[in-house]
Amino acid sequence: MKMKKILVTGGLGFIGSHTVVELQNAGFEVIIIDNLSNTKISVLDKITEITGLKPEYHNIDLRVKEDVKLFFNNHKIDGIIHFAAFKAVGESMQNPLDYYENNIGSLVYLLQEMRDRKITNFIFSSSCTVYGQADQLPITENAPVKTAESTYGNTKQIGEEIIKETCKADNLQAIALRYFNPIGAHESIKIGELPLGVPQNLIPFVTQTAAGIRKELAVFGDDYPTIDGTAVRDYIHVVDLAKAHIAALKRLINKENKENFEFFNVGSGTGTSVLEVIKTFEKVSKKPLNYKIVGRREGDITAAYADTTIANKELNWQTEKNLEEALDAAWQWQQKNKE
Ligand code: WQD
Repeated sequence: MKMKKILVTGGLGFIGSHTVVELQNAGFEVIIIDNLSNTKISVLDKITEITGLKPEYHNIDLRVKEDVKLFFNNHKIDGIIHFAAFKAVGESMQNPLDYYENNIGSLVYLLQEMRDRKITNFIFSSSCTVYGQADQLPITENAPVKTAESTYGNTKQIGEEIIKETCKADNLQAIALRYFNPIGAHESIKIGELPLGVPQNLIPFVTQTAAGIRKELAVFGDDYPTIDGTAVRDYIHVVDLAKAHIAALKRLINKENKENFEFFNVGSGTGTSVLEVIKTFEKVSKKPLNYKIVGRREGDITAAYADTTIANKELNWQTEKNLEEALDAAWQWQQKNKE
């Protein structure tokens, strides 16, 4: 069978790079578009070291419609996995228009090219933020989408709406993957998360504190109605998350999808509190972590973790790695990237 050519936008980012590796391992030919707005070109060499295959790479800004068109004029693509987007919640509230332009504009241009060239297979990076604080835990796909708390979250909700409507109007076949909290790094420790500046997310802050880059971790709130008072999330190893994209892509290519637009929860299915993360990290790193309890962070929800029953069954996918393995990989990655 001829190798399927898959375009991965944002393919040098955290989740994108791990997905490129898994695509290559699964026998797909990968073309990456990335404008390096939140990553480094060296990731391309690292992917090549891991898989032995250098993916084709283009530095294209997807907000430039003519450049997007030109790319598609010159490439025949069988499917697209669309990661390229801004993803910082706080920043999105400061610069909403930049977020709408980048996260929505790029999506529309890609979908227009897909329509014009009859490319049908599309995987979209969505987010568990669409559920807000769900009334019931674990969160199933039947939980209602709640009004977004942030511009970032809204771009994911609007993105899903745009895709859903396009699936009705055209022959687009799409799957949105609603990620919970992706963490960890590739087992080779050649690729991982590269947060710019002070990390906003828990795990990079934990590893940077353990590495001595940050003085102490602030735990945001210990008065939540949870097992130990700290907020609960569903942390998923980024390689498991990457593999969910391969499963979703195969579902579309093999025409196993039940509807033109589908969405699935991609999490581990386990809820873990901040203090439990700290305890597990201390065990893995064999170091005590310097932390203190402070007040709640604005906009945080109490608890979110996935019911993955539907994703497990429909995608024929499940997680293979646990929290310890993810934190171990994140810690090794941190030690390798000292600065
Ligand atoms: C996890 C927990 C914090 C930092 C992120 C994205 C969101 C969505 C899901 C993609 C919370 C606590 C954190 C710190 C802490 N992703 N914490 N001290 O808030 O679940 O959301 O993942 O769409 O958009 O932002 O993840 O890693 O920021 O926080 O105590 O220094 O750790 O309060 O309970 P969150 P996070």
